[in-house]
Amino acid sequence: MKRPVGTPLRDDFQLVREAVPDAPDGGMVVRNRFISLDPAQRGWMDDAPSYMPPIALGDPVRATTVGVVESSRNPDFRPGDWVLGLNAIEDFSVVLPGGFTSRINVGIVDRPSRYLSAVGAVGLTAYFGLLDAGQPQPGETLLVTGAAGAVGSMVGQIGKIMGMRVIGIAGGAEKCRRLVQDYGFDAAIDYKGKSQDDIAAEIAAAAPQGIDILFENVGGAVMDAAMLNLALHARVVLCGLISEYNSAQKVGMRNLWQVIVKQATIKGFLIAAYVPRFAEGGARIAQWIAEGKLRVDEDVQHGLDNAYDAFMRLFSGENTGKLVLEVD
Ligand SMILES: NC(=O)c1ccc[n+]([C@@H]2O[C@H](COP(=O)([O-])OP(=O)(O)OC[C@H]3O[C@@H](n4cnc5c(N)ncnc54)[C@H](OP(=O)(O)O)[C@@H]3O)[C@@H](O)[C@H]2O)c1
Repeated sequence: MKRPVGTPLRDDFQLVREAVPDAPDGGMVVRNRFISLDPAQRGWMDDAPSYMPPIALGDPVRATTVGVVESSRNPDFRPGDWVLGLNAIEDFSVVLPGGFTSRINVGIVDRPSRYLSAVGAVGLTAYFGLLDAGQPQPGETLLVTGAAGAVGSMVGQIGKIMGMRVIGIAGGAEKCRRLVQDYGFDAAIDYKGKSQDDIAAEIAAAAPQGIDILFENVGGAVMDAAMLNLALHARVVLCGLISEYNSAQKVGMRNLWQVIVKQATIKGFLIAAYVPRFAEGGARIAQWIAEGKLRVDEDVQHGLDNAYDAFMRLFSGENTGKLVLEVD
């Protein structure tokens, strides 16, 4: 196994079989049932400064998981408890004392994987990213990139709940159809095969008064085009740059001068900073789902031996909603 250089290759990873471990003193063993596959994992594979240390070579790929406590020597958790934690792509995870794990109530959701999508980090990223970092106002125009994905589709719908005009950019006609028909966006733009100028012209046509909030998930030419359409005092929520996660040479932002021209604000957003407010955001999201105001799709793939192919769906754009690996 080795660190991926550019696009991850199958040979960069290994499936290793080991005996199920015993619970350590003060810790526990969790049997993972659902594993979150996220673009962020690609960043964790690089030996580069980030908000978490790089995954050590030879370690399993770090991942958020939902599972059931198999055995416990931690007085706060009992076998059979459903838990959410930062573990790895593996069927059993050892949780050391002090490791990040919280008990979850699977009785209030239609399936446990919702703790990785709607009421998990993805939904909370959409919620706090738009509402806290973006500060939306009714009547404003929101542009979401990566709009048909897990975060993007929720950002757009929350924007509609807030009374905004919402435009999404996504890859392909089918995703654009879903943005308007399934998620209620006002307009959708297909970026595939188009130049920055073409995308910029389509944004201008959809938002003649300019973009008040750009919720950025993608970067590259799509972001460059969006930056040419900012309204005065626009806010750019920088949430992700997936177009360059597999590039050793980062592209950067070519139309930064528009921040000066439009007196705009760029805010870097990281969901980890909002952990103390997760319950608040989760409750509001759950309420919107119960009221039929928010639709959350999951793309559930199966089997640990399918992890590489499943993960790569994020970069080919094949995933239709929050990508989750179910451990069968
Ligand atoms: N800051 C935070 O705390 C935080 C938390 C969660 C997620 N994020 C970020 O949010 C973004 C979306 O994450 P997600 O989990 O919701 O994934 P997602 O949007 O469900 O899946 C990734 C999507 O990115 C698009 N994509 C892939 N390569 C692309 C490229 N070269 N150019 C343009 N689009 C490309 C694809 O959609 P198309 O078919 O439309 O191309 C793909 O379906 C990522 O950048 C992620 O890092 C940030």
